[in-house]
Amino acid sequence: TELDRIRNFSIVAHIDHGKSTLADRLIQLTGTVAERDMKAQMLDAMDIERERGITIKANSVRIEYPAKDGHTYILNLIDTPGHVDFAYEVSRSMRAVEGSLLVVDASQGVEAQTLANVYQAIDANHEIVPVLNKIDLPAAEPERVKEQIEDVIGIDASDAIPISAKSGMGIPEVLEAIVNRLPAPKGDRNAPLKAMLVDSWYDPYLGVVVMIRVMDGVIRKGDRIKMMQTGAVYGVDKLAVLKPQMVDIAELGPGEIGIWTGSIKQVRDTRVGDTITTEKKGTDKPLPGFKPAQPVVFCGLFPVDANDFEDLRDAIEKLQLNDASFSSEMETSAALGFGFRCGFLGLLHLEVVRDRLEREYDLDLITTAPSVVYKIHMRDGTMQELHNPADMPDLTHVDHVEEPRIKATIMVPDEYLGDVLKLCQDRRGIQLNLTYAGARAMVEYDLPLNEVVFDFYDRLKSVTKGYASFDYAITGYREDNLVKMQILVNDEPVDALSMMVHRDRAEARGRQMCEKLKELIPRHMFKIPIQAAIGGRVIARETLSAMRKDVTAKCYGGDVTRKKKLLEKQKAGKKKMRQFGKVEIPQTAFIAALKMD
Ligand code: GTP
Repeated sequence: TELDRIRNFSIVAHIDHGKSTLADRLIQLTGTVAERDMKAQMLDAMDIERERGITIKANSVRIEYPAKDGHTYILNLIDTPGHVDFAYEVSRSMRAVEGSLLVVDASQGVEAQTLANVYQAIDANHEIVPVLNKIDLPAAEPERVKEQIEDVIGIDASDAIPISAKSGMGIPEVLEAIVNRLPAPKGDRNAPLKAMLVDSWYDPYLGVVVMIRVMDGVIRKGDRIKMMQTGAVYGVDKLAVLKPQMVDIAELGPGEIGIWTGSIKQVRDTRVGDTITTEKKGTDKPLPGFKPAQPVVFCGLFPVDANDFEDLRDAIEKLQLNDASFSSEMETSAALGFGFRCGFLGLLHLEVVRDRLEREYDLDLITTAPSVVYKIHMRDGTMQELHNPADMPDLTHVDHVEEPRIKATIMVPDEYLGDVLKLCQDRRGIQLNLTYAGARAMVEYDLPLNEVVFDFYDRLKSVTKGYASFDYAITGYREDNLVKMQILVNDEPVDALSMMVHRDRAEARGRQMCEKLKELIPRHMFKIPIQAAIGGRVIARETLSAMRKDVTAKCYGGDVTRKKKLLEKQKAGKKKMRQFGKVEIPQTAFIAALKMD
């Protein structure tokens, strides 16, 4: 295809502002999918999977559009991952296209997530077309939102296109704007092949499917090609474009986006951002900006029922087929038995994976406190990365500890600003910036990641009644006074509850934990001390008094079935209990104990 008949773009939007609905409309209006096959949210892979019983991650679609100028254009839409933890993946998708539609809900205005992604688009030198969605809503204020886009993002919004993705109004104008306002891709057809790996996923029939954007040269079915980062060589067995179903194609040239397969067994072998070239006479200059996936938040996942360990292992392996960005390593805990220490790109990523394990694989899991990666500088000059607080070396050997910091951007209606500032301050935050756009404040904070991984989102939502939006990026490491705090129940350390805390917050946190556990652990026939300690020093203590009566005593001489029922209920309850020395702790206690309030 001629370069000047191609337009490549992505859609930038905050959650719920209408990205999927708009994509559906574009596909529908251009007849890319026959009307009878058109299902709402065409680009939502999960839906398609359910519908057809196969795995296609239709995160990209090729649309043929006959424009008003009489020419037919190929429009490639690349879908970008929706949340903050995938900032790197988003940055690569952005490098694969030349422009973006910036979709803003005209009744809501610009939100934090919009900002993060639009800055990525600006970084990638995109031409950006602002689109004001949901103008059918009575609450829509297109003029105010235009101003806000100009004030907050700093791009010209005078030509913003008002649309209703729901009714279809304004969609023809969006298609014309894509052709007329976005630049055509550039590239040299006669140069050696240079393509960027944008995404990959596992398909049970085809193996790993790799999505690429060709920069220079041509890729053809049957070629032998090399991944420059890994050095691995594969044959191109299948070459196709997504419409969004796969349609075979003989070759892909500069500016084009498509997929290929080549008997690749694991998603792990395909790295987002890698450069693909031909095995012979290939390029020797990889595309800039490649970064290996680096987990930043770790936690332990243990089955509640030890018999489920093999099921958990299988489930993790299956999920990893499609998500190479989460890591897992077997872990044994004195308290929790066999499980896995897993690494994630961020807290949301962790929650998504845990939810899927529980829901799709029907597993009951204990999740230990999420921990960031600390850099432990030893007295002997060496440095080690700490993924699990339980592994913290003896303090006498430690010189200092560094922790990751983030820059958080929060947008919030003015009336909640005070509560937001207090929350950030309580979490050791340093205010960087505070600006206003209309009645909304935008505040930027430098925060320790470890203060955000516990329950920052939940707290933010509750203090702002859900009106705040939040986004963050990791900025680097900084030294601070960080120590490992242990929890002892009946003098036995519970490794799953060990955590790294700032020394100044240790007492308060320890007291909180002990008080909580006192409420959460059922009484036993004996007295149980609950303590928080740093090294050998106890910093907080509670005592759970002994229970006086047998549970069944009140059924004394009475109804036998009732007694039986009570015992059965106790037995069922036991399944969710964990034995610590002589003490039984219900698994809900772990989850609850790790929430702060
Ligand atoms: P995520 O998939 O969660 O990221 O959201 P999204 O940005 O893709 O938004 P989606 O397209 O799912 O739309 C969110 C909600 O807004 C849905 O309930 C849509 O039906 C609704 N919606 C989308 N466009 C319009 C519009 O033009 N007008 C109105 N009234 N509602 C719309």
